[in-house]
Amino acid sequence: RANNYASSPSIHSRLRRGYSSESAPERKVAVLGAAGGIGQPLALLMKLNPLVSHLSLYDIAGTPGVAADVSHINTRSEVAGFMGEEQLGKALEGSDIVIIPAGVPRKPGMTRDDLFNINAGIVKSLCTAIAKYCPNALVNMISNPVNSTVPIAAEIFKKAGTYDEKKLFGVTTLDVVRAKTFYAGKARVPVEGVNVPVVGGHAGITILPLFSQATPKANNLSSEDLMALTKRTQDGGTEVVEAKAGKGSATLSMAYAGAIFADACLKGLNGVPDVVECSFVQSSITELPFFASKVRLGKNGVEEVLGLGPLSDFERQGLESLIPELKSSIEKGIAFANKS
Ligand code: NAD
Ligand code: LMR
Repeated sequence: RANNYASSPSIHSRLRRGYSSESAPERKVAVLGAAGGIGQPLALLMKLNPLVSHLSLYDIAGTPGVAADVSHINTRSEVAGFMGEEQLGKALEGSDIVIIPAGVPRKPGMTRDDLFNINAGIVKSLCTAIAKYCPNALVNMISNPVNSTVPIAAEIFKKAGTYDEKKLFGVTTLDVVRAKTFYAGKARVPVEGVNVPVVGGHAGITILPLFSQATPKANNLSSEDLMALTKRTQDGGTEVVEAKAGKGSATLSMAYAGAIFADACLKGLNGVPDVVECSFVQSSITELPFFASKVRLGKNGVEEVLGLGPLSDFERQGLESLIPELKSSIEKGIAFANKS
């Protein structure tokens, strides 16, 4: 079974008795956008992770306070805060993983693509700095629209001559987290043991949960139930945006999901076998150059992009329908990165 941060008994027992760093190698994790709605709880969760030795918190404002606060927690990592572009290089130097939740979130009525004009530029400048200061780091892209920001990052790294397709990840873990929660609720099974792959991309119909592959199998779900679960997973982000009524999008569940994904990357880097998470990566499993699917993580990042497995007719239709939208979001990102 794949290693899983949330269900690992060793993580929970270490939480209870306080972390020890015994055999864990030094690992620096940088969070860009660390003073934001996602950035702050993500900084907290990364401070609780015993695999992190150095935690670097960067934002254009507010990081001294967040860093001072988080640094008092009595866990392994040393925390440093960096503020403003002139400190970005120092924040990034020596990073093994860079997590990017920098950028504006949605308000009700907006699509993720409506964030493109602002966030594309932010991602571009941050990735230019990553190429310069920590070209070997794994990049965990959270900033939306992920379907475009990941291709932007790839193009920026290509231009800088540092692109390694094994090291660039769009974080789609929140889709998996939601699919697991919604499935467990509907099937009335304990959520801790649930697994659901989610493939495609990270926006609307490009989010394709594969409930036909969900475990444990549930015999009590009708095809209407599965359609409703699919729709709820695809609209999960919008559900939160509407409930927050203008005060942003998912932050706490995203921080949790981001922490799970970063933990999986750290485990992979440290040589833990069989670490598998879904992520939006460079891929050849469909006609598209980027696609989210299960990915095996290893010492160099992506070790293997796993195939889709058997799909139901409903999922096959969903796959066909998502391709044009995902293709155009990817192309939009590539065009943006190459126009200037
Ligand atoms: P937020 O506005 O609360 O925080 C964003 C932070 O980014 C702010 O602190 C801001 O100062 C900072 N920032 C802006 N420009 C920056 C720059 N150039 N360098 C460094 N930091 C910069 O927003 P949030 O709720 O934390 O969301 C952040 C992003 O994450 C949004 O684009 C949102 O759509 C996205 N998101 C993605 C997922 C996902 O599943 N991938 C889930 C939720 C949110
Ligand atoms: C999410 O899925 O919660 C994020 O992509 C934020 C959003 O805009 O929905």
